[in-house]
Amino acid sequence: MTNFTILAIESSCDETSAAVLHNGKVLNNVIATQSVHENYGGVVPELASRAHQQNIVPTVAEALNEAAMKTEDLSAIAFTRGPGLLGSLLVGTSFAKGLALAHDIPLIEVNHMQAHVLAHFIEDPKPAFPFLCLTVSGGHTQLVKVTGPLEMEVIGQTQDDAVGEAFDKAAKMFGLPYPGGPHLDKLAQQGNPDAFPFTETDMPDLDFSFSGIKTGILYFLQKQERKDPDFVQKHLADLCASVQKALVSMLLKKLKKAAKQTGIKEIAIAGGVSANSGLRTSLLALGENMEWNVFIPKFEYCTDNAAMIAKAAEFKFQAGEFADQSISPLARMPL
Ligand code: KG4
Ligand code: ZN
Repeated sequence: MTNFTILAIESSCDETSAAVLHNGKVLNNVIATQSVHENYGGVVPELASRAHQQNIVPTVAEALNEAAMKTEDLSAIAFTRGPGLLGSLLVGTSFAKGLALAHDIPLIEVNHMQAHVLAHFIEDPKPAFPFLCLTVSGGHTQLVKVTGPLEMEVIGQTQDDAVGEAFDKAAKMFGLPYPGGPHLDKLAQQGNPDAFPFTETDMPDLDFSFSGIKTGILYFLQKQERKDPDFVQKHLADLCASVQKALVSMLLKKLKKAAKQTGIKEIAIAGGVSANSGLRTSLLALGENMEWNVFIPKFEYCTDNAAMIAKAAEFKFQAGEFADQSISPLARMPL
């Protein structure tokens, strides 16, 4: 179909987002961030779903108004089915189903992790198939082989914590506010990455593990603070830079291995942690060295957003893949 409009809704974690896509072009990307979690040092699932309930109507209305579209103009309504927090997913799913039912509009379910990968197709330059995507977020760390817009295979993943979680937990140990990843990144830019060589964990094949380094940081801090209670304060930037260096190195080693194993030189990163300045810079340098074509999303398409849901939905729309009203959210939706 050449003339179509899709409304997309994202509510998998702590961002309520709505976007409108018209004839392949994302017209907007409205995001309501939930600040309520800052007081708790992490996302509180029950508070997240309540905030989604408060935000969803104004967020969708703003996206439609900004795009000068009405519900009657919509060819489809897309929503994140999973993975994510069940209560949060329920709000977006129920809202999408209700709106679709009331106006007799087709529904499209979207896998959140697939959408992170497909964020690369919102704007140029776009990777060519097949490409490898390192998808790094607060809940996932995956190496994905992408052979088509809807054909993806996870070829490596974390066996415990996600790398975003490792960034956030390290930041929390350093006394930084939640979510700590971006704060740690900012401080790391003024620190010495070689100040504290944290031990990297290696895993077989293309898998990752981040729980060991997290415990390593904790024990290191406990030991140092016994000698000097102000240790963290005195060395904050160096600690951030050193942790960032180790985490980025663990990611890039596996990416390099995956590229070698598959012979693929089209390399992308996606997900919240792809906003990390250390990862972006090191990947660009490695890419030049390895003669890869490297694709890094714009900042606003790294963290959770509905524009990527809209883009993923467009591929499904073109393939005629619609969902029916009996659909329910899935906290663990495999890629
Ligand atoms: O993809 P995302 O928005 O949500 C999930 O699906 O999890 O990713 C959020 C994660 C959080 O762990 C956050 O701290 C991390 O991405 N993050 C960063 C940066 N920006 C966001 N981590 C390191 N450096 C950043 N600049
Ligand atoms: Zn995400």
